[in-house]
Amino acid sequence: MDCIAVLTSGGDAPGMNAAIRAVVRTALGRGARVFGCQRGYDGLLDDELAEMRSTDVGGIIGSGGTILRTARSKRFRQPEQRREAGRNLRERGIEGLVVIGGDGTLKGARALCDECDFPIMGVPASIDNDLPCTDASIGFDTAVNTALDAVDRVRDTAYSHERVFVIEVMGRRNGFIAVEAGLAGGAEAILIPEVPYDLQNVCDRLKAGHRRGKRSSIIVVAEGAASAVEIHDLIREKTGYDARYLVLGHMQRGGHPTAFDRVLATRLGAAAANRLLNGTRGEMVGVRGNQVISTPFEIISRTERRIDPERLLLAEVMAQ
Ligand code: F6P
Repeated sequence: MDCIAVLTSGGDAPGMNAAIRAVVRTALGRGARVFGCQRGYDGLLDDELAEMRSTDVGGIIGSGGTILRTARSKRFRQPEQRREAGRNLRERGIEGLVVIGGDGTLKGARALCDECDFPIMGVPASIDNDLPCTDASIGFDTAVNTALDAVDRVRDTAYSHERVFVIEVMGRRNGFIAVEAGLAGGAEAILIPEVPYDLQNVCDRLKAGHRRGKRSSIIVVAEGAASAVEIHDLIREKTGYDARYLVLGHMQRGGHPTAFDRVLATRLGAAAANRLLNGTRGEMVGVRGNQVISTPFEIISRTERRIDPERLLLAEVMAQ
């Protein structure tokens, strides 16, 4: 194989650029040609591919977003559109593809790989960290640190005004960001979709804290569990405390990737390109311990990443 392409798809995640850089420079270093595809799978359908040189990825290791841009392609969900994408790639002489993205991106990759018999390697990149078979997805560490910075700042004002703050973080149907940012930020409660919660119990704990002399509290809520506005209203109603809310939203997807995400992206991007050029296909790279591994798409599709409930319990103990 001596010509591959790379694309980013789904929600952008800090570190995607570092992964693109790693794919491009690894492939060029092995004497292969590399094409960058714009706007995710939509770019494959619209044939928006351009050959990349090493200088095209210069200076991007520390930048957020993705230089290839991204999209959540509706068209790519149709099998006939995927066949069109496969034809476009082959007509350009491209023999393999690296896709960088989250859950939906990997599903699309598996379909294209199987239906068009096209070699693809996946690189996990999503702030949600919901992909299995890897210790971490690119972008999660940065998003957690962004959310944590907000928690720390809000704690200052919550303390000063003796208020309860409800902070809503992203994560789609998962609570990984909420658990990490909440535990690291010393939140008094963390509400996530995976574990049922009782708001009366949360309020009772806030009141118990108040009796011990605690005058301010932070509650981190994952967007998939409830809305911060709703929780804040109920807390006001049930406790009578002065409460405010903050929805962090898309700021969690932006910014410079942390050192952890840059290194992870560099290792995974390089591994994906190397494996693809060596003939591996239909797998997602990941890290387990300190080892780079790769797992077939088929296994990824039937494996679920689970929250560690110990972390929630630990957060409760620490909030006492
Ligand atoms: O998957 C990443 C993510 O940021 C989720 O946490 C969030 O629910 C979703 O994307 C938001 O998507 P959009 O940018 O399309 O509104």
